[in-house]
Amino acid sequence: MADLRPVRRHEHLSAGGTSVIVEIGADTIPRVLHWGPDLGDLDDAALSAVADAARPTTGDSVVTHQTSVPLVPQHGTGWLGRPGIAGNRIVDGRPGPGWSPLFTSVQHARADSDAVCRLVSEGTDPVAELFLTTEVEVHPSGLVRVRATLRNDGTTPYVVGGLECALPVPAAADELLHLTGHHTRERMPQRQPFTVGQLVREARGGRAGHDATTIVAAGVPGFGWRSGRVWSVHVAWNGNQVTVAERTDGGWRLLRGGELLLPGEIVLDPGDTYPGPWLVASWGEGLDQLAGRHHDFLRARNQHPTRARPVLLNTWEAVYFDHDLDRLTALAEAGAEVGVERFVLDDGWFRGRRNDRSGLGDWFVDETVWPGGLRPLVERVHALGMEFGLWFEPEMANLDSDLARAHPDWLLGVGRGPGPESRYQHVLDLSKDEVVSYVTERMSQLVGELDVAYVKWDHNRALVDAGSQPFGTPAGHANALAVPGIMAELKQRHPGLEIESCCGGGGRIDLGIIEVADRVWASDCIDAHDRLDIQRGTSLLLPPELVGTHIGSPRAHTTGRVQPLSLRGGVALWGHLGIEWDLTRASAEDRAEVAEWVALHKALRPLLHTGRVVHADLSGDAFRLEGVVAQDGSRGIYGLAGYDRPLTSSYGRMPLGGLHDDVTYRVSLLPPGDRATVGRRPVWLDSPVTLTGRVLREVGLEVPMLLPDGYLLIDASAD
Ligand code: DGJ
Repeated sequence: MADLRPVRRHEHLSAGGTSVIVEIGADTIPRVLHWGPDLGDLDDAALSAVADAARPTTGDSVVTHQTSVPLVPQHGTGWLGRPGIAGNRIVDGRPGPGWSPLFTSVQHARADSDAVCRLVSEGTDPVAELFLTTEVEVHPSGLVRVRATLRNDGTTPYVVGGLECALPVPAAADELLHLTGHHTRERMPQRQPFTVGQLVREARGGRAGHDATTIVAAGVPGFGWRSGRVWSVHVAWNGNQVTVAERTDGGWRLLRGGELLLPGEIVLDPGDTYPGPWLVASWGEGLDQLAGRHHDFLRARNQHPTRARPVLLNTWEAVYFDHDLDRLTALAEAGAEVGVERFVLDDGWFRGRRNDRSGLGDWFVDETVWPGGLRPLVERVHALGMEFGLWFEPEMANLDSDLARAHPDWLLGVGRGPGPESRYQHVLDLSKDEVVSYVTERMSQLVGELDVAYVKWDHNRALVDAGSQPFGTPAGHANALAVPGIMAELKQRHPGLEIESCCGGGGRIDLGIIEVADRVWASDCIDAHDRLDIQRGTSLLLPPELVGTHIGSPRAHTTGRVQPLSLRGGVALWGHLGIEWDLTRASAEDRAEVAEWVALHKALRPLLHTGRVVHADLSGDAFRLEGVVAQDGSRGIYGLAGYDRPLTSSYGRMPLGGLHDDVTYRVSLLPPGDRATVGRRPVWLDSPVTLTGRVLREVGLEVPMLLPDGYLLIDASAD
């Protein structure tokens, strides 16, 4: 640590409107005292005073009165809550000591870069012979990231059972928000009081899952999108994970998380280290500000996609497994006509894949369906001015595949065969180098040969019994590490290649996979009504440009609902736009309207994909209103959806939030859209109004009583 700046007893890390005050010492790893609004400049005396004010005294017992909680809580400090480290040594083949580490000799240093405030601490436990590194970062977005890395300094192996970081929130944070869902209905909110005990959200299927909580948040009761202070954490890891809200009888409220390790999965030999994933923490005056920090953080990364997101056409719901050169060529032509820029051939193109029961793993173009290979289709797609994208499910194999027949030992299992089947498929063991190499080489060859610009990387089942054969050694961690590794290797070999993280829809959405993936498929549900909420939940973590939003066919395949194109187009407009509909069967009128939506999206995407996302807190379920406002406040676009039938014959007013208070905006409707309303018709609907951002936020506009599934696009442009 010689080149780092030594620090004082308290450190203040501040950036992007966020302050983190950390208590440190020669005998303790960092203890976060405050995480939230910027506290301005604080000299040493002021910092100590803040700490004195924020910290209780020990009282008669450190066990009952913890004065502060280390970033990685340790039982040995007297902490009776959930420990941050679980583990023990193996001595003479038997479980041994080291299960209650305590880091008593600690050095701290500031390692700020130009933009990021960073505190690095290294602690030794001479008894357990462990070495712990913690990192606390505050980014220009105001986002906080914390991480712990454990090293075995002893002479015997150390088994890591868990490594979690924890951040305290104040007593005012008395309401929890976490998300749940299932295939085709991901990221639905759940709220509950922050009672004493633990809310534990686990993902054990080798991915965050369709029921992923995505964030666990705690805030002042009733916090909404636009107001109410709220804090959250997210585990940036594309494998098994645990996220916890913990309230102790001692009065501590912690948000915490880490990787969920399978038993015996991480055994550190002497000198080995285990880096836990980043715990990404955000806060805001309302969820929009909290989410905005995630968006700003992601947008500041070097790898963040900056070129205009190509409008794509995905073949899945158009043709499913029914692959045929003429049919797909006609679809590509219909796509090009409406302005599509990327044509993505989904599942069904490889050997033996006539349905979902066979072929997975055999990554060779099927000669019976594609006698001339895929090249003729690719050439036509290119000639039409579009990029070509291709679907893979690289981590999987059907038992009915040449791959599984040749290498049954390449499937994960714990010693009783490959375990339970799901969608007729099993998971490959990516802890084996030869499996990684097979997958990488097959994909790389096809990407090169076929000029693939975009890989849709799917993952249609959870990992169960994720052991490496023949012994069943746990391999969930290794599999999770291997996936971004293969993605990165493909991108390195094929510069410019983009990859989508799809997982039977939205089952793998996390900031681990987003290190390498360029977008996610939010859900297999393209029903525009349900998508409103799925996209809301997704927006808590990801900005619109990273989220695939498609215009589906008139009758939603997952719900059977029939919806007007104005709603389907309007709801899909905001993200990375796609079409997932057999346009060759659409009417000329519908195709013309799709072309209008595509053209509008292209015109608006520079704003939609860089601006600030806002959601209105409207009471009841009659309407959904959301928008994106340009960073400089010059323009805001809002979408109002008729979500349910209102209880009353008129609703009242809706605020247009996020605009600049003192700027005057001309508010008008943007075509296309369905302007049909019932009952009173607000004046502004038919003749534009001019109002300041302050008035639009505080007074708002009378809500037009849209018909169910009606959709209006509102444009507020600086006058
Ligand atoms: C699940 C995906 O989410 C769909 O979009 C599609 O690619 C299918 N898998 C193909 O099997």
